[in-house]
Amino acid sequence: PTQRDALKQRARDLLAQHRAVLVAHYYVDGDLQDLAMETGGCVSDSLEMARFGRDHAAQTLIVAGVRFMGESAKILSPHKRVLMPDLDATCSLDLGCPADSFAAFCDAHPDRTVVVYANTSAAVKARADWMVTSSCALPIVRHLHEQGQKILWAPDRHLGSYVQRQSGADMLMWNGACIVHDEFRGIELELLRREHPNAKVLVHPESPRNVVEQADVVGSTAQLLRAVTELDAQEFIVATDNGMFHRMRQAAPHKKLFEAPTAGNSATCKSCAHCPWMAMNALQGVIDCLEQGQGQGEVFVDEPVRVKAEGCINRMLDFVA
Ligand code: 13P
Ligand code: SF4
Repeated sequence: PTQRDALKQRARDLLAQHRAVLVAHYYVDGDLQDLAMETGGCVSDSLEMARFGRDHAAQTLIVAGVRFMGESAKILSPHKRVLMPDLDATCSLDLGCPADSFAAFCDAHPDRTVVVYANTSAAVKARADWMVTSSCALPIVRHLHEQGQKILWAPDRHLGSYVQRQSGADMLMWNGACIVHDEFRGIELELLRREHPNAKVLVHPESPRNVVEQADVVGSTAQLLRAVTELDAQEFIVATDNGMFHRMRQAAPHKKLFEAPTAGNSATCKSCAHCPWMAMNALQGVIDCLEQGQGQGEVFVDEPVRVKAEGCINRMLDFVA
């Protein structure tokens, strides 16, 4: 066996020994995604990861993804042990929305319903009325708009402006972006579509407007995966982190998938769209966080913050139930 096989076997043994379940995002290393699938865990988008972790009987959750995903798991399951392969794996949206300046923004607009994207810290969620993910942001904002509510939205400006255009809601926005999706380029995408006129275009809504507007499907990672298997097309251009291609290729091995062009695409960099923080997740990290014990690799959220953040996540979960 290769070293990789040995690491995978060690991780598998430790998961069984600790009765732990692995909850992974589509952007992490393919070996971790496979391990999650093979051991009864899940690989999904941030909404399903949160639900799966909450509903699973295991008392130890290993969350392979970025920090906010581990925090959401802990917020929803305070009595479970939540471990992460690398606690430093963060997200540019989370980093770009510090809790204190966000609170000041909210204080300045007390007439608005505060809706935050999942990609934020527990402290930011604690200040919000609603949390949403990319899979349910639009129906939730539409619902609030229909009730006559004005919205304060944070932090992703591209997802926010997509939701605003689709819903017609009055939305005041924080100016954040995902460093990965912000790199997709509309003009280069138009050129690629000319080369592949039959290809369907799948876009994550964290991408810029001129990319989103060329999409056949705009959706969360899980929704884009479903589109690859369900749409009656043989070719797809995909504008999201290229970690996504692992499950897409497994799910539709005979379909042709092309990466949407980024500002960084060149002869030497054909796979620029990859989140540096998702890339910090590795088999060795799963092994380490299970072996070390005593709070190593463990996610903690202060109880008063957790209770408030739970309210805002549960509002979303009740809405989508
Ligand atoms: P999804 O909820 O669509 O998986 O998105 C999470 C994310 O971080 C996308 O960059
Ligand atoms: Fe955050 Fe973007 Fe990475 Fe997703 S891909 S975790 S939004 S930086």
